[in-house]
Amino acid sequence: MRKIEHDCTLIKKTLLNQDNIFLTFQSQIISDTAQPGQFVAIKGPAFLRRPFGIAQVDRSAGTFSLGIRKKAAGTAAFFDVEIGETISVLGPLGHGFELDGLETLFIIGGGTGIYPLLFLLETAKRKGIKTYIATGFRSNDDVLLAEEMNGLADGFCLATEDGSSGIKGFAQNALEKLWSDFSNNCGSNLEDLKSDVDNFVEHSFENSKIALFCCGPHPMMQKAATWARQIGIQCQVSLEERMACGIGICRTCAVAVKRESDAVKREPDTEVIKADAGAIKNKIDTVEVRHEPEFDYDRCCVEGPVFPAEVVQW
Ligand SMILES: Cc1cc2nc3c(=O)[nH]c(=O)nc-3n(C[C@H](O)[C@H](O)[C@H](O)COP(=O)(O)OP(=O)(O)OC[C@H]3O[C@@H](n4cnc5c(N)ncnc54)[C@H](O)[C@@H]3O)c2cc1C
Ligand code: FES
Repeated sequence: MRKIEHDCTLIKKTLLNQDNIFLTFQSQIISDTAQPGQFVAIKGPAFLRRPFGIAQVDRSAGTFSLGIRKKAAGTAAFFDVEIGETISVLGPLGHGFELDGLETLFIIGGGTGIYPLLFLLETAKRKGIKTYIATGFRSNDDVLLAEEMNGLADGFCLATEDGSSGIKGFAQNALEKLWSDFSNNCGSNLEDLKSDVDNFVEHSFENSKIALFCCGPHPMMQKAATWARQIGIQCQVSLEERMACGIGICRTCAVAVKRESDAVKREPDTEVIKADAGAIKNKIDTVEVRHEPEFDYDRCCVEGPVFPAEVVQW
């Protein structure tokens, strides 16, 4: 059985601003096995562990990093962990982004969703995938990791709602700007990169050479997913649900997903008809096979947090 609980020592702590901190922990096993989009659940003084997307790994140093925004008491406690202290970490957990077969990757992120995108960008770059990343924040004071993203990506566009940094607007405006520049340069090659969005197979995008990956606030991802569908590219979204166990047992993190039902085979309707002298005739209706989209629940901590946008019941 795979061991998922590890005692990890904090080796570096960088305060990004008053409310955001970047923590680096020693763990060869997590750095060796983590995939972008996966998360860890870490133990602080609170009863429940807190989940955080893996923001960076350094396999040669055997470390992994997390970016944490102070929200309430649970996250605030991690600001007080001292270098050299050891904490209990479950991970890597969940299902990450699927990069196989991709040549070009558009990424949109906002808020704390920006952190796991650093790991995604580094991995995509290592695999030779071209990356274009759009990020959005309220104002210049909230901007995170812009320099790092700009250094890693082939294209980067930052938007702030008040226009104090980058373009004025939302992450979606930045994404559309990147796309417009890209498609103008790409010309007729664009159609070759696309795949049949309607023919996706759950958690499998083998035929897709271009995709949009999203991580951030729910409305931002929903809008980006609709846009991706309209322009005809695959989309994967990293969802954030409240979590208790983080390992698939409690079902706190249920996500409503659409699922093409298996052929539903209805039992033949049998009608008993009284005929002459009590003869019995069975009238059997045709066997009906239906293919209808059905709703089901997946666990964000196991089947997710990354899902194909098409399966999410927004
Ligand atoms: C897969 C995943 C990845 C995440 N990655 C990051 C990250 O990289 N950086 C970051 O700063 N934050 C991230 N979050 C959100 C982070 O887990 C919450 O902000 C944090 O748990 C809040 O804890 P709290 O005690 O400060 O707040 P409280 O609101 O007091 O938390 C109370 C309870 O609700 C849960 N909870 C509250 N908000 C969330 C939330 N948004 N998502 C899940 N559970 C929540 C807590 O775990 C706790 O059990 C992620 C969440 C998920 C599910
Ligand atoms: S948090 Fe318990 S099943 Fe997902």
